[in-house]
Amino acid sequence: MSAHSTSLAIRAIAVLLPVSLLFGHASGIISGKRGDPVNLTTAFPSCGNCHNATPDANVRMAIDSATSVAPGAQVAVKASVSGANTTKTDGGFSMEATAGAFVAGTNTRTDTTNTGRAAITHANSSSRSWSFSWTAPTTPGLVEITAVGNCVDGDNRNVGDAWGFYGPSSVVPGTPYRVFVNAPTIRSAGEGCAGTDGFEPVLGMATAPAVNGTFVSEVYNLPPGTAAVTFLGLSNTSYGVIPLPLPLQAFGGGACVLRVSLDISQVAFTSGRGSGNGSARSTWVIPNATNLRGLGLHFQTLTVDLPANALGMTFSNALSTTIQ
Ligand code: HEC
Repeated sequence: MSAHSTSLAIRAIAVLLPVSLLFGHASGIISGKRGDPVNLTTAFPSCGNCHNATPDANVRMAIDSATSVAPGAQVAVKASVSGANTTKTDGGFSMEATAGAFVAGTNTRTDTTNTGRAAITHANSSSRSWSFSWTAPTTPGLVEITAVGNCVDGDNRNVGDAWGFYGPSSVVPGTPYRVFVNAPTIRSAGEGCAGTDGFEPVLGMATAPAVNGTFVSEVYNLPPGTAAVTFLGLSNTSYGVIPLPLPLQAFGGGACVLRVSLDISQVAFTSGRGSGNGSARSTWVIPNATNLRGLGLHFQTLTVDLPANALGMTFSNALSTTIQ
């Protein structure tokens, strides 16, 4: 290297150094940045590259947000980490989404330059919960959000900290929080209830019902190898003499609520492996009868999930729309 290029290199390092100090790990960590591991939120070594090598089974990284959204919608996200170093309140996290964009809130910062995924992290290590937003992509379909959190001890060093992945088990990488971005004319019409390992069925539709057309309903977050029955109801206020929505608590259904009339149904068997990774799809056909245009349709999926509650069933979120 010539003397000239050496001095250039030294000057470049001098310029880069303060920037990397400013964004030390106590002020956030993004996949693939400055030697940070790629796939931070979905695979090992994750935070364990520099903190404790293995995740802590007591850590709980939680995500609270919407699961059924309109294209381009901006939704609130609350992330939090808990379960270790319980006498302290310092923490950090890293989160990625397969589509859409994060909008930073207090004590968070975003970065979109790596791995092609939207990413957000803490901006300082002084808290264990973070509120920010996520903007859904304009293209309908399933989006997966993955995250990892660190309950640190606040000594501003990478020792004595305890981290874990999002999901029912913090030592298993890559469990996604699933959000379905529906077709523009599909409206979200009530929440679902949690099944095995806390997974709440997510029903979505990337195509809308139209005269002389087909459309598809998709449901995620289910146990694999079970039956999922999707109902098309003409009402979400009554089913015969039964008023809707009908809370199923009295029937052993826990927090589940029946939200649509059980007029037409399709059974699908869930594919996939691993808790919460089951999914099912049904294709629906609308006849070529123009008088059907404007008719209101309501959808909800019942899934056989024996450990979920005494009823042995879960119910997804509900969707409403009109035939185009
Ligand atoms: C490339 C190495 C590396 C990786 C990977 C890493 N960290 Fe760190 N982390 C450090 C170092 C070094 C420190 C101490 C100095 C600093 O803040 O940069 C630290 C400190 C922290 C602190 C403050 C610690 C305290 O006790 O006050 C937080 C919070 C933190 N990291 C969160 C995370 C999270 C969350 C992850 C995983 C998403 C992660 N780190 C992954 C190197 C790393």
